[in-house]
Amino acid sequence: MAARGGSVVSYLLVMVMLSSLGREEHRVAADSRAVNPCCYYPCQNSGVCVRFGTDRYQCDCTQTGYYGDNCTVPEFETWICLMLKPSPSLAHYLLTHFQWFWDILNDTFLRDTFMRLVLTVRSNLIPSPPTYNTQYGYLCWESYYNVSYYTRLLPPVPGDCPLPMGTKGKLTLPDPKVLAERFFKRKKFRPDPRGTNLMFAFMAQHFTHQFFKTKHEVKAGFTKAFGHGVDASHIYGDTLERQHQLRLHIDGKLKYQLLGGEVYPPTVSETSVYMKYPEDLPSEQKLAIGHELFGLLPGLSLYATLWLREHNRVCDILRAEHPTWDDEQLFQTSRLIIIGEIIKIIIEEYVQHLSGYFLNLKFDPTLLFKERFQYSNRIALEFGQLYHWHPLMPDSFNIGHEEVSYSQFVYNTSLLTHFGVETLVDSFSRQVAGQIGGGKNCPEALLKVAEMTIRESRQARIQPFNEYRKKFNLKPYTSFSEFTDDSDMAKGLEDLYGDIDALEFFPGVLLEKSRPNAIFGESMVEMGAPFSLKGLLGNPLCSPGYWKPSTFGGETGFQIVKSSTLQKLVCQNSRWCPYVHFRVPSKEQQANSKKSLNEL
Ligand code: HEM
Ligand SMILES: *[C@@H]1O[C@H](CO)[C@@H](O)[C@H](O)[C@H]1NC(C)=O
Ligand SMILES: *[C@@H]1O[C@H](CO)[C@@H](O)[C@H](O)[C@H]1NC(C)=O
Ligand SMILES: *[C@@H]1O[C@H](CO)[C@@H](O)[C@H](O)[C@H]1NC(C)=O
Ligand SMILES: *[C@@H]1O[C@H](CO)[C@@H](O)[C@H](O)[C@H]1NC(C)=O
Repeated sequence: MAARGGSVVSYLLVMVMLSSLGREEHRVAADSRAVNPCCYYPCQNSGVCVRFGTDRYQCDCTQTGYYGDNCTVPEFETWICLMLKPSPSLAHYLLTHFQWFWDILNDTFLRDTFMRLVLTVRSNLIPSPPTYNTQYGYLCWESYYNVSYYTRLLPPVPGDCPLPMGTKGKLTLPDPKVLAERFFKRKKFRPDPRGTNLMFAFMAQHFTHQFFKTKHEVKAGFTKAFGHGVDASHIYGDTLERQHQLRLHIDGKLKYQLLGGEVYPPTVSETSVYMKYPEDLPSEQKLAIGHELFGLLPGLSLYATLWLREHNRVCDILRAEHPTWDDEQLFQTSRLIIIGEIIKIIIEEYVQHLSGYFLNLKFDPTLLFKERFQYSNRIALEFGQLYHWHPLMPDSFNIGHEEVSYSQFVYNTSLLTHFGVETLVDSFSRQVAGQIGGGKNCPEALLKVAEMTIRESRQARIQPFNEYRKKFNLKPYTSFSEFTDDSDMAKGLEDLYGDIDALEFFPGVLLEKSRPNAIFGESMVEMGAPFSLKGLLGNPLCSPGYWKPSTFGGETGFQIVKSSTLQKLVCQNSRWCPYVHFRVPSKEQQANSKKSLNEL
């Protein structure tokens, strides 16, 4: 009995042990099979996915306006807003049609109301203070504090997902070379239907490279531009040492050289700054510029020359009013004026042109003084990716009466000094740029850049295009044929990616079908504009403490900022005033200029 009882006990014991062993085995097996649930991107409407245990997750829906397991149920207030808010495509349609309506509105207080709305709706999409970076997919001090990283809007694809884009698509992503060859490479030059010109294209490149300076030497996600915004480091250098090398240290001015009586950037040997040039370039042709790569293209050296002349012009004006100021104060105050001028021109001419809006955009920081708005900015990796607008570049460059090939164009600073500012501005303003969106329009010479961009985006584990669509209040695409009208491209992408939810971000924004008569598609606008406007208005200059005459040395400087235009930038710093615009002349304008030439 005792023996039997003992055997029963030991039998039970063994069973318990076995079953617990079994459970143990089961758990181990589950561990190796458990897919990180965040790989499904379950949390909607900007909810934050946090993994618990091995196979559980929670969505943190705080402040999203939604609740429920996946933050999908709108709160009452959200529901009302959703009913009233126009969709992005309707808003865009209204803003780009009914010119008579916007013309009337222009002369009323409603212009301010709409401009304020554009600014707040757009910049509210950008978290400020910034959130994640390539190293940290969760909030942490390092991610906030270490400005060597680009920030990012969405955290990286978790490192332990079963597939490269999470749980959808193929086991391996398409070869970047194949993507570039088949979908990015230009077959035949496709001009921008809105007439965007090269003056615009080089402004785009010149302006953005002050804050897009990816550190290619290290793994993805680092920047060399710590200003994270419009700091004019492309004019003054991105370190204090470089700034001092470029400065004349007299009257606040920058160093320059005179060629044929005209002001140009000094040579490298006069400043000893580092510039990237081919070794065999004669030393008198190596111009020294704030940004070390801006000797690459005459279009960039042209803008460098214009801003250099403008800086020194402003210094003279300030000195006349403030004879007691030292070099340092003249320099620093001029720099603020230059930054203000840049923001003004970018909003009222560059963004105005790009948007195609009939609403007259206005650079007026006071519009936001009663709003909740953070005066800070951090450049996002996704912003840098989507700004790869290489399809703007033509097949060759028309300068004066010459056609210049890429090989003659790059690192050819003598083009600038030979033709002069006026002829370059005139030529670039008359030559149409390529359409950015829609694919198959990237010049072959720049195809390598598209490939490298894709490679970098993979190192950085950027989330799928459709996740970004949702983040920016756009409906995710349900098929490749909805994404593009080009059936060959739709089919090719489908074969390569397998699933529209696995399409990558960069091909997404660049290959998406363009809006009718537009330079690119919906996603580029809806994603680019928030980053852009937040960066422009988030500048300290736009804050209530800075936006006043004394910041700019008095009313004169303040007025220079508030009235700056592209045309003044050129024509106050050149011998004659060429055709200068961000779009090619209309037929009418061409006829008029012929007429006036004939009359001469
Ligand atoms: C002939 C003209 C151009 C050439 C030769 C050129 C060349 C390059 C190269 C070599 C890179 C570095 C790629 C890499 O290492 O990943 C680059 C990056 C870039 N380019 Fe261009 N590019 C040109 C025009 C433009 C234009 C017109 C834009 C307009 C916005 C533009 C925007 C950018 C951007 C945003 C980056 C990323 C910069 C960074 O993250 O550091 N480029 N380009
Ligand atoms: C939340 O999302 C997960 C994963 O996408 C899904 O399986 C689940 O059914 C969703 N839950 C609710 C309540 O919708
Ligand atoms: C809109 O108003 C501004 C001044 O408030 C004026 O400079 C501009 O020319 C007007 N634009 C149109 C299209 O009427
Ligand atoms: C930022 O992070 C990188 C990588 O961890 C590190 O090398 C660098 O020193 C950090 N920068 C600062 C200012 O802490
Ligand atoms: C620079 O441009 C000029 C004018 O087109 C051309 O004659 C010259 O050969 C170019 N220089 C180089 C090094 O390509």
